[in-house]
Amino acid sequence: MSKLFITDTILRDAHQSQAATRMKLEDMLPACEALDRVGYWSLECWGGATFDACMRFLNEDPWERLRALKKAMPNTKLQMLFRGQNILGYKHYADDVVEQFCKKSIENGIDVVRVFDALNDKRNLEAAVKFVKEYGGMCETAISYTVSPVHDIDYFVRLACDLEKMGADTICIKDMANLLLPYDAYELVKKLKENVSVPIHLHTHNTAGTGDMTNLMAVQAGVDIVDCALSPLANGTANPSTEALVATLKGTDRDTGLDLKVLAEAAEHFRKVADKMKAEGTLDPKVLNVDPNALLYQVPGGMLSNLISQLKQANAEDRYYEVLEEVPRVRKDFGYPPLVTPTSQIVGTQAVLNVLMGRYKMISKESKGLLKGEYGQLPGEVNEEVRKLAIGDEAPITCRPADLLKPELPGYREETKGIAKSEEDVLSYALFPQVAPKFFDYRDNGGAAKAEAEKNAAAEGVRTLFVQDLS
Ligand code: CO
Repeated sequence: MSKLFITDTILRDAHQSQAATRMKLEDMLPACEALDRVGYWSLECWGGATFDACMRFLNEDPWERLRALKKAMPNTKLQMLFRGQNILGYKHYADDVVEQFCKKSIENGIDVVRVFDALNDKRNLEAAVKFVKEYGGMCETAISYTVSPVHDIDYFVRLACDLEKMGADTICIKDMANLLLPYDAYELVKKLKENVSVPIHLHTHNTAGTGDMTNLMAVQAGVDIVDCALSPLANGTANPSTEALVATLKGTDRDTGLDLKVLAEAAEHFRKVADKMKAEGTLDPKVLNVDPNALLYQVPGGMLSNLISQLKQANAEDRYYEVLEEVPRVRKDFGYPPLVTPTSQIVGTQAVLNVLMGRYKMISKESKGLLKGEYGQLPGEVNEEVRKLAIGDEAPITCRPADLLKPELPGYREETKGIAKSEEDVLSYALFPQVAPKFFDYRDNGGAAKAEAEKNAAAEGVRTLFVQDLS
């Protein structure tokens, strides 16, 4: 076996999982010189919830952030997280928007695009994979890992083989909820290594405290690349720490070759950033606690805090455990979707509605969309009675959902005439039509708009602190 490669998530998933995605560019730049010297396989620094958070909470241009990071780290591959046909938003986009987003991400500095679909519907990945490659990016295609009666090792191996055929340069096991236990990781990685020839990349979290062991067992089984986060923002709901794995493998046949002293230089800076976020209240130390509820209810850690905050709003915090028990039932009725953005929010909200209003007395618009097939094919059998309650006699969609969409870019260009300064701005608007115009006004008009935006961002920040994106 050979050297293990490391991707560091300190600039994306680590603060997304621990601090509601609030790390600013100014908090990143001072460490970039050291990060660029480490010798990572890649640095995950963009996509996921960062794009939305930049404009909504931080009054930062996400494209400008990407260009600045590229300039500061010219020697390291920059990686982003991309939700297939949803791009970075919460609905399906037409192929022309997916194409333009891939092109512009790569042009502005992204090297590796990790593409996933919440339902593992391959048809939702096809366009992104094709365009990433067409514009010269490296395409890492991800399996959304989950546990259910339909998700066994054979299912994931078959999926990985199909993804390789589709053109994946690497394949990621994306265990956003920390459900992949160490011995299962060993078996899954072994089987994947026997059946696919592209490198295998593991992404897990430490919500339930099993993340380091899962990584180590995967390393033993021959995984090629592992995601970790520098220690100041590692562990808990975030990814296991880089330094711990690097130290563990030192002198073995999987030695990463990374220098703990250089890692310490970068970590020193992020320790100050983490302390600052704790003082501001954007990082609640409770995310660092090991939470075995994640294993017991198979609910991702971030989703637990979402549920608590929804119940608080409804003055029904005492119904928490009823909701936790309702989540697996809703998930079964919906054909066992993996719980990751956006399905985690859809299933969680429906479970809350079921407990507070009675089962399926009220069905959210998103639940209807999911049962109708608007997000793609559900992995298992759907409860037809529930589907009937949701969509009546309407016929479910069975084709690739994006095939029903006409090109959308011309419309977005038209709508942003006078406010968009670039094609990048048009994309920002396409993804977040409510948020982007306010941000453009702040950026381009200053003065009153600036003060208003800062006030709103602060208020919004407190309100939605725990409404996390789960990926
Ligand atoms: Co993650």
